Order: sequence, then C-alpha cells, then structure tokens
Amino acid sequence: MTKEEQYQEIIPQIQSLVSGETDLIANMANIAAVLHETFHFWWTGFYLVKPISDIQSPISNELVLGPFQGPIACTRIPYNKGVCGTAWAQNKTLVVPNVHEFPGHIACSSASKSEIVVPIRKNGEVIAVLDIDSAEYDTFDAVDKKYLEQIKL
Ligand code: SME
Repeated sequence: MTKEEQYQEIIPQIQSLVSGETDLIANMANIAAVLHETFHFWWTGFYLVKPISDIQSPISNELVLGPFQGPIACTRIPYNKGVCGTAWAQNKTLVVPNVHEFPGHIACSSASKSEIVVPIRKNGEVIAVLDIDSAEYDTFDAVDKKYLEQIKL
C-alpha cells in the first residue's frame, strides 16, 4: 500500500473515531495512536496552546505537551520557537526535511531528523499543533501535509 492509500484508509477512521467523542485529550490520544501505529514514526503527538503560568511574562500563551506516542519529549515550547512554536505563530503547516537546517529547531531527541507540524484550529485560531518526527531525513511531503491537515478535532 502506498502512503497515500494508507492515509485514505485511516483519515475516515480518525474522523469517525473523534465524531463520537467531545473530549479533546481523548481524541488527541487516539489520533496519535492511529498515526503512530500505521506509519511507525519516531514520535507522534500534540502540543496544546495554554496560558503561561508565570504572570510576569509579556506573552500570554505557550505550547504544553499533550497526548503522544514515542519517547519522552520537551514539555513546554514558547511562541515562535522551534518548529512547533513557528508553525503556531505562522498558523501554517511546516514540513522540515532536515531538522538540523531549521533555525531554532528544538531537539527533544537526537534521533529526530525530519519533522512535520500541523496547526489544529478552532474558529480559525490555533489551539494546538500536531507534531510528527521521523528518525530519517526527508520523510514528509505534500501527501502528509494534505491528509494531516484534514484532521479536525
Ligand atoms: N522538534 C520540535 C520540538 C518537539 S519534539 O520534536 C517532540 C520543535 O522544534 O518544535
């Protein structure tokens, strides 16, 4: 089966999985599991936009680790930092063929070589990001972008 055929099979499964459940965390947990089991990525998970607990901070939100599959990861990512914080700030999907060439990439794991980050929106505003890491270079392309952007929570 090609990657595209695999996505065509699992995207409707994901939509029916989340359509019967309103809890965001439960849905993120199952989506991470489906994607990780299907494609055997290095790391598959979500970061949620949440208020910063330090009220001194001039910026009010940051990304906090949510449900994921894979090795332990960084728990907090500032706005506009790393691939995740940049995808959030730019409100667009970022496909990174080589993370070592991405300025400010946050290395949660030295094994990670390529990455895709897809913003999850509610009423046009980014409420979370889906972050997938690969242990190989150049894993993600327009096919991943097309199908992962169809995931609605
Ligand atoms: N590499 C990400 C950090 C998250 S981990 O990959 C799970 C980044 O640069 O934002």
